[in-house]
Amino acid sequence: AAPVIAIDGPSASGKGTVAARVAAALGFAYLDSGALYRLTSLAAQRANVAWDDETGVAAIAAGLDVVFTGDDIRLAGVLVGDAIRTEEISAGASKVAALPAVRAALLFRQRAFNTAPGLVGDGRDMGSVVFPRAPLKVFLTATAEARAERRHKQLIEKGFSANLPDLLADLQLRDARDSQRSVAPLRQEVDARLLETTHLTIEQAVKQVLDWYAE
Ligand code: CDP
Repeated sequence: AAPVIAIDGPSASGKGTVAARVAAALGFAYLDSGALYRLTSLAAQRANVAWDDETGVAAIAAGLDVVFTGDDIRLAGVLVGDAIRTEEISAGASKVAALPAVRAALLFRQRAFNTAPGLVGDGRDMGSVVFPRAPLKVFLTATAEARAERRHKQLIEKGFSANLPDLLADLQLRDARDSQRSVAPLRQEVDARLLETTHLTIEQAVKQVLDWYAE
C-alpha cells in the first residue's frame, strides 16, 4: 500500500487545513474523514432517520452516494457546500460517529482513498483504526480556547453567525463525546508525534509535519 500520513486531533484544531496543505506539497491524495461523518449526519437528517437510530444511520452511511472532486463534495449528485459545516450538523456528526455500526460502514470507504503515491488522512482514528500501519502519525491539537477562536473566525468568514462562548461550549461537549465513546475514542496513539499548535502558524505546522515525514 502507498504511504499514509495520519493526522488526528480534536475539533477545530486546524487538522483539515494542515492535512490538505501537506497533501498538496507532497502530491498525495487527501481524506477528510470528518466529512464522511458530517455527510452521514446530513443524509440521515434529510431522510428523517434519527441520529441515535444505529441500524438506520448505518444503512445511510453504507449507501452514501458521495463523490469528492478537489474541494467539492457531491451528495446524490448535488453540491453540498457548507451544509455539512453548521453547528447542528457538526453535533449530529459527533453523535453518529459514536455508533459502532456507522464506523464499520465507513471503514472500507476510507481505506479506498489510500492510492499511490500516498495519502494524508485527517480525523480522530486515522492512526488507530483506519491506517494503523501509517509510517507517520501526528496528533495535532491546541487549547480549547484557541480552537474556539479558530472555529469562530472560520464561521464568520463563511458568513455564518457565531458567538464565541457558545462555540467553546459546543466544542468541549464534542471533545468529551469523542474521547469518551467506546469505539475509536479520540486519544494520542503511543506512536504518534504531538503537534501543539496554539502558538504556531499554519505554515509552521505544515513545515513540522513535512520535516517529520522527511526524517
Ligand atoms: O472540523 P472538526 O474537527 O470539528 O470536525 P470533523 O473532523 O469534520 O469531524 C466531525 C465529527 O466526526 C467529529 O466530532 C467526530 O465525532 C467525528 N469523526 C470521527 O469520529 N472520526 C473521524 N475519523 C473523523 C471525524
